[in-house]
Amino acid sequence: MGDGKAMQGTGRIPVVIDCDPGYDDAIALMLAAGCGQLEILAVTAVAGNGPVDSTYRNAARVLRFLGMDVPLGKGRAKPLLGYLVTSGAVHGKSAMDGVALPDPALPEVPPAAFDVLTKTLLDSPRKVLLVPTGPLTNVAVALLARPEIADKIERIIWMGGAIGKGNITPSAEFNAYVDPEAARVVFDSGLPVTMVGLDVTHKALIYPEQVEDLRGLGKAGELAAEILDRYSAAYKRRGFAGVPIHDAAAVAAAFEPGIIKTQRARVDVELSGEHTRGRTVVDLSVTTGREPNCDVAVDIDRERFVELLFSAIGNLGDSDEE
Ligand code: BDR
Ligand code: CA
Repeated sequence: MGDGKAMQGTGRIPVVIDCDPGYDDAIALMLAAGCGQLEILAVTAVAGNGPVDSTYRNAARVLRFLGMDVPLGKGRAKPLLGYLVTSGAVHGKSAMDGVALPDPALPEVPPAAFDVLTKTLLDSPRKVLLVPTGPLTNVAVALLARPEIADKIERIIWMGGAIGKGNITPSAEFNAYVDPEAARVVFDSGLPVTMVGLDVTHKALIYPEQVEDLRGLGKAGELAAEILDRYSAAYKRRGFAGVPIHDAAAVAAAFEPGIIKTQRARVDVELSGEHTRGRTVVDLSVTTGREPNCDVAVDIDRERFVELLFSAIGNLGDSDEE
């Protein structure tokens, strides 16, 4: 889409997307670019679904396809503490295995996600929505080192966590598990946080026949279908009837907040449990009496979600870098 810049503009909601593409992160970027309601100020890549070299490269490939010339930053190689756990079983070794997108020329020294994130926020005349769709490493680093950015953040809408589910362990959702310390920094930051967790993203399903319908929507539709073909495999093996587009649910909530139903609650992140590290402990029944720190997504309007996705991808049409 050669006119990606032209589609950006005032009147739209300013966002920064921090992501680890990742099949569903790529679809989330497509939704953000095609929805017509978001002004994507910058994108930062975080280590998660794959090593940061891969997620940075994949983000660059998707942005190029979308014709989006926005600052792209590369994050740390590791979570705040400990080793990186990746999601090769779902996204493949390269974090987006099998997706035929050309490689753009990448700068020899990529801009650091920290610099891109903090500069974008501090330079913005308006408050910005931060939409992380991976582990919260980059966001936590920025908040710890430049706490003044908090004044420029309208809200953090994070795809991650869960009320009572896990997908990488029985207790923990992947993004929370990869960097629980970072998640704790974010939940304790005092900023407005929306947690779009597995409880709702497992309902944000696209069924196989819809993947076929997407294929008819120009080059963007073909790319989305190709991505979803790959992405579906792991979910089929797990017995899902459709494929949950986790990260796109957080992006949808950024421009259509009514799409998710939320409940205010205290969320604490388990750091030390032998079997529960990375669990987001959600106090829905107010047992602790502690101040709520999060709007926890408890339901999603799936039909509307699918509608938004189709319309955005339809708008992108014959997106291509040429
Ligand atoms: C989350 O983990 C990643 O594999 C996906 O991209 C999504 O952000 C779902 O648990
Ligand atoms: Ca992700």
